[in-house]
This record gives sequence, C-alpha cells and structure tokens, in this order.
Amino acid sequence: MTSEKKWKPVIPGFDHMLHGGDYNPDQWLHEPGVIAEDFRLMPKAGYNIVSLGIFAWSSLEPEEGRYTFEWLDDIMDRVAKTGMKAALATPSGAKPVWMSEKYPEIRRVTPTGEGMYLLREPTGFRHNHCFTSPVYREKVAAINGRLAERYAKHPALGLWHLSNEYGGECHCSFCHEAFRAWLKRKYGTLDALNLAWWGGFWSHTITDWSQIQATDWSVDAMKVDWRRFVSYQTTDFMRHEIAAVRKFTPHVPVTTNMMNTYHRLDYSVLADHVDVIANDSYPNYGAAEDLWRQASWISFNHDVERGLRHGQPFIQMECSPSATNWGKFTPLKRPGVHRLEALAAVAHGAEGVMYFQWRKGSGGFEKNHGAVVDHVGHENTRVFSDVAEVGDILKKLQPVRGSTVTSEVAIIHDWNARWALEYSAGPGAGAAPGDRDCCYVSGSHYRSFWKRGVNVDIVRQDEDLSGYRLVIAPMLYLVNAGMAARLRAFVENGGTLVTTFLSAVVDDNNQCYRGGWPGAGLREVFGIWAEEIDNLEEKDKQSIKMRAGNKLGLKGAFKAHTYCDLIHAEGAEVLANYGDQFYKDTPAVTVNRFGKGQAIYIGTKTDEDFLDSFYGVVAAKLGIRPAVSGKIPEGVLVRTRTDGKSTWTFVLNFRKTSQTVMLGKGRRLDMITGKPAGARLRLPGYGSAVLAAPA
Ligand code: GLA
Ligand code: ZN
Repeated sequence: MTSEKKWKPVIPGFDHMLHGGDYNPDQWLHEPGVIAEDFRLMPKAGYNIVSLGIFAWSSLEPEEGRYTFEWLDDIMDRVAKTGMKAALATPSGAKPVWMSEKYPEIRRVTPTGEGMYLLREPTGFRHNHCFTSPVYREKVAAINGRLAERYAKHPALGLWHLSNEYGGECHCSFCHEAFRAWLKRKYGTLDALNLAWWGGFWSHTITDWSQIQATDWSVDAMKVDWRRFVSYQTTDFMRHEIAAVRKFTPHVPVTTNMMNTYHRLDYSVLADHVDVIANDSYPNYGAAEDLWRQASWISFNHDVERGLRHGQPFIQMECSPSATNWGKFTPLKRPGVHRLEALAAVAHGAEGVMYFQWRKGSGGFEKNHGAVVDHVGHENTRVFSDVAEVGDILKKLQPVRGSTVTSEVAIIHDWNARWALEYSAGPGAGAAPGDRDCCYVSGSHYRSFWKRGVNVDIVRQDEDLSGYRLVIAPMLYLVNAGMAARLRAFVENGGTLVTTFLSAVVDDNNQCYRGGWPGAGLREVFGIWAEEIDNLEEKDKQSIKMRAGNKLGLKGAFKAHTYCDLIHAEGAEVLANYGDQFYKDTPAVTVNRFGKGQAIYIGTKTDEDFLDSFYGVVAAKLGIRPAVSGKIPEGVLVRTRTDGKSTWTFVLNFRKTSQTVMLGKGRRLDMITGKPAGARLRLPGYGSAVLAAPA
C-alpha cells in the first residue's frame, strides 16, 4: 500500500497545482498582436504554466545549424514576467522537413503486408522518427543541448517536456541491428535464444544472429521480446534526450506525456527514468445521459498513471477544454463537465490540469480542436469561463498538493501479459477486442470498486504487494517467476488474491507452463487444476449457479460467456458451478485457503452483476469501505486523497440528474464554497465537490 510514501514536493520547483498547457506561439510569430493578447488572457484563465515549443523545431532551426532562438527568448521572458513557468519541450516529436529530406535514415521504416516487406515512410506527419538513427540522435542532442544551455538560468524554465507522446516502432536496419544487440545481451548464446523461442517450430532455429527477422509473426516469443525491445529502445532514446538537457540543467525535472494504457510501450520501463509522470486524457464525454461508464475507464487510466511511479502524484498534461477534433463525433462538454473531469484527475492523484491547447490555430489539422481561446479571439466564451473556474478551484485545492491516494485494493496491470496473449493464437481470437486484453478485463473488475467508492491502485507487476488486503489479477496470462513468488507470499501472509481464466498460462518466454494450469506454482495456491478451456461463441449458452451454503453467502445464477475453464477442485472449496454445456455442475468459481490467506479463482467471464455481488461480499468481509457512510448512487464517484493527516474526499456526479450522497458523521469543509458540509450532500447534474476532513 502506498500510504507510507511521502511525495512532497512532487514536482521539484513547483509549489502550486499546475494549470496551463500546450502553447504554440511559434505558429503566430507573424502576428505579434495575438501573442500580446495571449499574455493578457493567460492570467485571466488562471494559467501558471505553458508547454512551449513542442513542435517548434522548424522555427528553432530553420536550416541545418542555424538557430533562431530570439522569438523563444521573448516568449520565455514574457512567461516569467507574467509569473508563470514553462514546461519547455524538446522538439523531437516532429522533425523539420529539411532534415527529413536531407537524412532519409531518420524516417521510420514500417512493415507492410504480413510484415514481409519494409517501407521507408515519406516525410510528413509527426511522431514518426527512428529512435536509433545516429543522425537523428545527434540532431536531437544538439538542439536539446542548445535549448538547455540557453535557458538554464532563465526564471521561466520549470520543467522539461520531453518530445511528445513517444510511440510506435521502426524497422530500419539500425533498429533491427539494435534489436539483435539487445537479444545478445539478454540471451548470451544462440542456444539460449533458440530454447526461449522454441526454435524448432517451423524450422526456425537461428544459427547466426543476423538471421533474426523481427517481423516474423510466427515466432510468438520473439514478438514479445520485440515489444520489450521497443520499450527499451524508446526509453534509451528518451534517456539520450534527458542526458542532453541534464548536462546544463541538472536542477530541472523531466517528464514526458504518456497515453494512458497505450499498449505498444511498457510505460513502467519509461517511468523509472522521469521525475514525474505526465498523462494525456481525452474522455468521450458527450450528450449521453450518463457519463459514468466512460468516467470509470478514465479513472482506471489515472490509477495506472499513478501506479507507474508507485503512488507518486502525476501531471494531467493534456485534456481538451472542450471538444476534440479527431473523434467520429465531436460533442461539446456539457456545463459542469469540464470541472468534473478536472476534479476527477485530481481525485486520482493529478497535481494540476493542463490542456491541449491554449489557442486554436487558424490553420493546420488541429484548427478545430478544443482550445481555451477560440477563433473568436476573446475571453467572453463559455469554454474560457469553464477553464477560468477550474483555475480558481485549483488554487483552493492547494492543500491537497503532495497528498496521494492510499488503497487497500490493487489490480495488477502488466504489458507483458497483454502482449503474450495478443501474440498467442488460441482462445479468444474471435472475442470482442476488449475481451482478449487483460487491461480491459481488469477495467470490468475495477468498475465494481468505482461504483462502491473504494480507492484502487493499479500496480506494476514488480510492485510490492505486502500492504494490500485484496489483490486482483484478472486474466494475467503471463506470470514470471518473480510475480508468482510475490503472489504466493501475498496469500501466504494473509492476503486475498483473485484471478480468472487465462491466468498463469505462460512464462516470461511466452511458453506454456506444464504440469497443469494455473502454472508457476499457483495451482497449489488456488487449490485447483484448470484442465481445459472452452472458448464459446457469442450464441453459446452458459451460466454459473452459486452453490447452496457457499462461504461467501452468494445466491442465485449469473450469465457467463466467452471463456470457461474446466476445473478440478484440489482442496479448494467450490463457490459456483457451471449451469450449461457438457461440464454442467462442475466447478466454475473456487476459493482456497493457503497459508494465512485465500485465493479465489473465477474460471469464466461473467457480467458485471456477478462481479458487483462478488466484490461486494469480498470487500465487506475484508473490511474494505468507502469514505462515505451511505450507499453511493449509481454514477457518483467517491475518491479520497490523504497526506496521512488530513483527508480530502472528492464526490463527483457523472449523471445529468441531481443526486444525493450521505456522507455520514464528521466535520468536513467544502473546499470550493468554503462552507462547512453537512452529513448529506446534494449534487446537481454533473455536479462536483471536494470535502476536507482536517487531521
Ligand atoms: C495528443 C497530442 C497533441 C494533440 C492532441 C489532440 O494528445 O499530444 O499534440 O494532437 O492529441 O487531441
Ligand atoms: Zn529505425
């Protein structure tokens, strides 16, 4: 549990909640009047930080080696004069056209067809540079170093915003060479590599390192290694960027903006090398009656970000002040929703809220994307007032800064497990995309706690589990030896562990555990053997029936589908049996006492009704309670942050209609209105409140 950890100060150099965001004056240099207006308006919006120069490389180095920093000098001076800070970007997210044309090697190579043909991308777009190219690394180090040297002592420099949304992969010869070198370091010998990759399959034994083809999808263990390599290489590129700025600015913290649960990069690898996590969040909050399902998914993502650095609060680096422009539909945020979204981020550990973007550009692909300042050009707009209101609220929430979220429940989220299943043919290939990704399956378990107002940590596979009461590992397909040992110790020492079908199926090399599933020694922990798995089509019938007098006291029958493990109880007590198919009346859900704890196995995919009843009982038995006393109405999120002394309770209504929450006894102050809060809190539709309970 993260309660022991103290994170103050969270972002060195910042003593307030951040409010601001992407600012692109480089696109307005021909209109100085607009820039002057920006600096008149930013304080009115409650801005205290701007992310500067993210895609400004062509304005900083219009020709090779000719640097034009004068405009940035002016902007940095104005930022400082306005009392703000800059999250100054390294511009590697978009390479200048001249560079891309002169040095084609910096452009990414992508596989086409079944990965057999490789194609060098044309110049254009963004986020498409090679992470290995020596030329690109040299150019990036040069511009980063010059920026850092020039602004090292500038009072506006507060934070480095490294690149933008690192992502994707490259298959050029440099990258493939780097992959082979990484493999050599990992395996040492070709014998070890062939063993790990099950080399005899389809005659794929590798007899020379040069034979390794990263795009061969039939080598499923290699695919997982490729993803690990891409995470490593992207991090290596990021560290190269960091080294260039650290040389001149060792005192300035670094971050990079992540994309939630983006499944192509293991963010835990990047997370260890930044000073603070930053995230971009674009919920699809439209005209629907009820936004809470979407909100619960966004909560899950926030909790993932906080977990990446073991509970350290993070920065909400981007969100839209209004609509996005890339969705199929671009609904506006309803009144109250912007504040609701911002407070939800803070509730999960954000130390401020920042936007993409400050001002809509007159041209370019993102000219219709939500911004604080619209094309109309002034502050008398609905969106501007919504943003200014959040700016005011963040000032009032100043005491929350440095506190974190403490949880008794943890859900394991592991990229290796996601990739291993994705690259294994077999059960679930025809399932709805989310049903084959443990991340989304975890989301459905998570939702039960969201509804209940219980804090949850989403933790990395290498996290220390010892402080939790309940650990949930849904569909944890790949379990390595370290994780297996931690799970076992957790139960032995009194913890409650819940897992599901398709867990502990493969090892770190994506090779199936032998000797009966769940593997890695967990068969003994769960007291079962899952002999086979029946992967049903949507039309196939299945259900589970709770056994009379079961230990959890659950009653009735629930629908089940997609995956059904055929289970032998080997010491475990059966909680529910299947209701259909040839294995009717055999175990579907089991619980096993192991050491001082218990291990529960849910062998089939159920709907939320089962998970809600199940976790309701489990949480009650373990004494896991929300921060408020009354039943929480559907659509309301209750979350707490604490610094070990004071507690702040966020109560957020994601329904269009007014709802009432019974808070229970205790002295509480409404931080937004400044008035004492009673035992009963009535929130209007999309209403939100933050209540402080002093030490
Ligand atoms: C991403 C990018 C931004 C911008 C926004 C638009 O998060 O980082 O540059 O393109 O999306 O939603
Ligand atoms: Zn490359």
